[in-house]
Amino acid sequence: MMSTGLFITLEGGEGAGKSTLMGRIQDWLEQAPIEFIITREPGGTRLGEQVRDLLLHQHQSAVSAQAELLLMFAARAQNLAETIRPALAAGKLVLCDRFTDASFAYQGGGRQLGAALVAQLEAAVHPDLQPDLTLLLDLPVADGLARKHADIPDRIESEQAAFFQRVRAAYQQRARQFPGRIKVIDAALPQEQVVAAAIAHLKKLTESAC
Ligand code: TMP
Repeated sequence: MMSTGLFITLEGGEGAGKSTLMGRIQDWLEQAPIEFIITREPGGTRLGEQVRDLLLHQHQSAVSAQAELLLMFAARAQNLAETIRPALAAGKLVLCDRFTDASFAYQGGGRQLGAALVAQLEAAVHPDLQPDLTLLLDLPVADGLARKHADIPDRIESEQAAFFQRVRAAYQQRARQFPGRIKVIDAALPQEQVVAAAIAHLKKLTESAC
């Protein structure tokens, strides 16, 4: 086991193949062998999953952009306290399906609340903690939406293409700002190449941490 925990997050727009990649990374971690946990945001705890349900699956009532942002951080505060921080303290690798970069992308960019407000909440909720590695699956919006077409969209997935263009632009801005932490993977590549690129980044990080 590693002497200190590692915090890895996975990000990307709609239809970028995040769920498939999560499964493939899990397979790799299991045979590594590395002690790890998997969590997601919004979600990961009982409270967080309830927030997720409120935010994504309750279409009947309007949710203001600010309420959405604050609920994302409420779920995050709980996930940090209950799941992420204890696992890191125990030396485990934490793989989180979305984290604060998603708030910068979706609420800061997509909802146009701006990065400054998201940064204030980040400074309040986890001033001391950033992911060690973030894998960002990048894909043109039209391609992602076409891939998603068969599913029934949740509340956020029901947004228009312009919203997702802003999400993508905000993610790309984050990647330019934090090139050491955020590794952009071209999600238009064949799946095996996407997986290979992700595993190469993970190997580099876990080997340097051992
Ligand atoms: P997903 O985990 O299936 O991608 O769904 C989560 C949705 O929640 C996705 O549309 C992105 C959105 N989201 C935000 O808008 N802000 C956030 O901070 C997080 C973590 C997720």
